Amino acid sequence: MAIDVATDLLACPVCRSGLGVADGSLHCVNSHSFDLARQGYLNLLGGPEPANADTAAMLAARGRVHAAGVFEPVAEQVAAQVAGRMSILEVGSGTAYYLARALGEDPAAIGVALDVSKAAAKVASRTDPRIAAVVADVWKPLPVRDRCLDAVLCVFAPRNLPEFARALRPDGMLVVATPRPGHLAGLRDRHGLLEVPPDKADQLAAAASEFFELHDTRLLRRQVEVSAGLAADLIAMGPNAFHRVPEEVAGGTVTIDITVQTFRPLSS
Ligand SMILES: C[S@@+](CC[C@H](N)C(=O)[O-])C[C@H]1O[C@@H](n2cnc3c(N)ncnc32)[C@H](O)[C@@H]1O
Repeated sequence: MAIDVATDLLACPVCRSGLGVADGSLHCVNSHSFDLARQGYLNLLGGPEPANADTAAMLAARGRVHAAGVFEPVAEQVAAQVAGRMSILEVGSGTAYYLARALGEDPAAIGVALDVSKAAAKVASRTDPRIAAVVADVWKPLPVRDRCLDAVLCVFAPRNLPEFARALRPDGMLVVATPRPGHLAGLRDRHGLLEVPPDKADQLAAAASEFFELHDTRLLRRQVEVSAGLAADLIAMGPNAFHRVPEEVAGGTVTIDITVQTFRPLSS
C-alpha cells in the first residue's frame, strides 16, 4: 500500500510525532489513530471538505487535459527543477500528475500527494505506487515531519510558506507554478472566465522572502490548438467550475502562460 512507503515522512496531525501502519490504520506513539480509506488514501481532514475542494468531475476534466499534453512543458520544467530528489510533497496535488513526473524513474523515490479533496486523493493514490495520497488542508500544519523533504511542489494551488519552510530540508527546493494574466487567453475572452491577477509571481517572491531565496524563474508561454471538448475541459478543471461553465464552448487557439519559480530555504 502506498502509505507504507511514506510513513518515515508523515507526522501525526494531533501531536506531531511519527506515524506507523498497523491493522489498516496509522498510529502514533501517543495512540492517535487514523483509518486508511479502502481506496488506499489517508484522510487527516477531521471534518468536511471545504467548498473549493476539486470534485470528481473537475479531476476527470483535468486528467483529460493532462493526457492531451497541454501542460507537458510545465510538468517537464517542474520535474527538471527537482531531478534526483527522493522525497517530494505536492500540495493541492489534484491527480498528482506533476508529482509522478517529478519522481522520475527511481523506484526508491517517495511522493506525498496532499489535497483537501477526497476525490483527488482517490485518483492520486492510483497514479503511481510511489505516491502516498493524504487528504489534508494545506492551511493547517502539514502532516509531515520537520526538515524531512527534498522538495515541495505547489502547482496552481494554495501556498502555506511557513509550513513549506518547516518541512523542507535545508538543501530542499520549493517549486511553485502560477498562471499569468495571459493564461487561457482565447477562452477567457470568449467565455468571460475569472481574471488572473497581475504580478502573482512577484507577490509570491515578496511573500516568500521571509523564508526562501528565489533561485530560478521560467516563463512558459505557448499556443495550443484544442478541440471543443478539450476547451470545455480546460474550463471545467479549474476554479471557473465553481462559478459558471459555459454551455457551448468552441475549440480553437488557447494560450498557456505560466510562471515556474524555484526557491531555496534561507539558511538558518
Ligand atoms: C487548480 S487545482 C491544481 C491541481 C494540480 N496541482 C494540478 O495542477 O493538476 C487546485 C487543487 O488544490 C486543492 N485545494 C484547494 N484548497 C486546498 C487546501 N486548503 N488544502 C489542500 N488542497 C487544496 C483542490 O482540491 C485542487 O485539487
